[in-house]
Amino acid sequence: MLREQLHRMLDVVIDSGQWVLGPQVEALELEIAALLEVPHAVATASGTDALELALRLSGVGVGDRVALPSLCPSAVPCAIARCGARCVVIDVEADSWNLCPKRLAAVLLDSHLGPIKAVVAVHLFGQAVDWVGLDLQCRQAGVTLIEDASQAFGGELSGRALGSLGKLGVMSCYPTKNLGALGDAGFVFCSEAAQREQLRCLRQYGWRQRHISEVPGINSRMDELQAAFLRLKLTGSRTALQQRADLAELYTRHLRDCPDLSLQVSRLQARHAWHQFVIRSPRAASLAGELIKHGVDPGVSCRVPVCNQPAWDGVRHDCGTASAVGSQLIALPMHPGISAGEVIHLCGVIQQVLA
Ligand SMILES: Cc1ncc(COP(=O)(O)O)c(C=O)c1O
Repeated sequence: MLREQLHRMLDVVIDSGQWVLGPQVEALELEIAALLEVPHAVATASGTDALELALRLSGVGVGDRVALPSLCPSAVPCAIARCGARCVVIDVEADSWNLCPKRLAAVLLDSHLGPIKAVVAVHLFGQAVDWVGLDLQCRQAGVTLIEDASQAFGGELSGRALGSLGKLGVMSCYPTKNLGALGDAGFVFCSEAAQREQLRCLRQYGWRQRHISEVPGINSRMDELQAAFLRLKLTGSRTALQQRADLAELYTRHLRDCPDLSLQVSRLQARHAWHQFVIRSPRAASLAGELIKHGVDPGVSCRVPVCNQPAWDGVRHDCGTASAVGSQLIALPMHPGISAGEVIHLCGVIQQVLA
């Protein structure tokens, strides 16, 4: 059914003869902005590009310092590095595994370290950060807070869509994401028309008028095909998100009383987007071995904290909690394609290992 609809969209785009930044992209930008209740959405070629553009829009440039959580995917420090900026890695909370506002406050107040230009907050695995806490610290320090909702499409905090909480948010539509394209795609969300225009300029060679670069921009145009596919995926997104929530509920019910196992703690008034269902156990190694035998890849994208990765050698180290948590994380299958029976079976395997 979806396959046939995708084929039809392919025909529509071929007939239109427009391949990038055309009517499909324009329609998608309006549709996702309306769904998330953000004033503007600017489509990009990937989530990493979206984050780079949001950082550049915030004035981040060569030599600036940008704070990020110690547990987050490689894309985040890579986007910071692409601006010529330096990473300041901040440790996470032990229960939510998200950026810790108290640790951030300590770094923002430490005048020896020099000023921080921006902070990137990632809703890890789809779980909302402590937005109120982070926002307060950033406001007091006069620092831009960028919301990375790449893993959080469909999540909410106090009734507001993740991605819409701040003045500047980003999202990835990498195929495995909750709203996944059939290739790479992403968005920047912003609140002012002037920001939207600046982002549109930056995403295409710094052009406001064709062929005249006002600033050194990049090429990050979303394809018409990906936009058409995403418009289709958007119409079915509510059902897909509910399926993820149902699977998460099933996992939680079967695993919450397991010894040596903890779950990512939910923030009050938050609706988890369930991009991934991740468990923590001091016996992660034996669990992973057993899950692999059952055909499951238990790998988590951020097992190794940013400050322990070779590319970021020399960045400020503040990863004690992340190091302890990261090595104990196991991802369980989470996508609308798996059945309740498979979930119950895997929970049985986990219960047996940990009994
Ligand atoms: C939190 C986060 N930020 C940014 C990205 C980058 O997105 P993309 O892979 O579309 O470049 C990802 C995706 O891996 C992500 O999970």
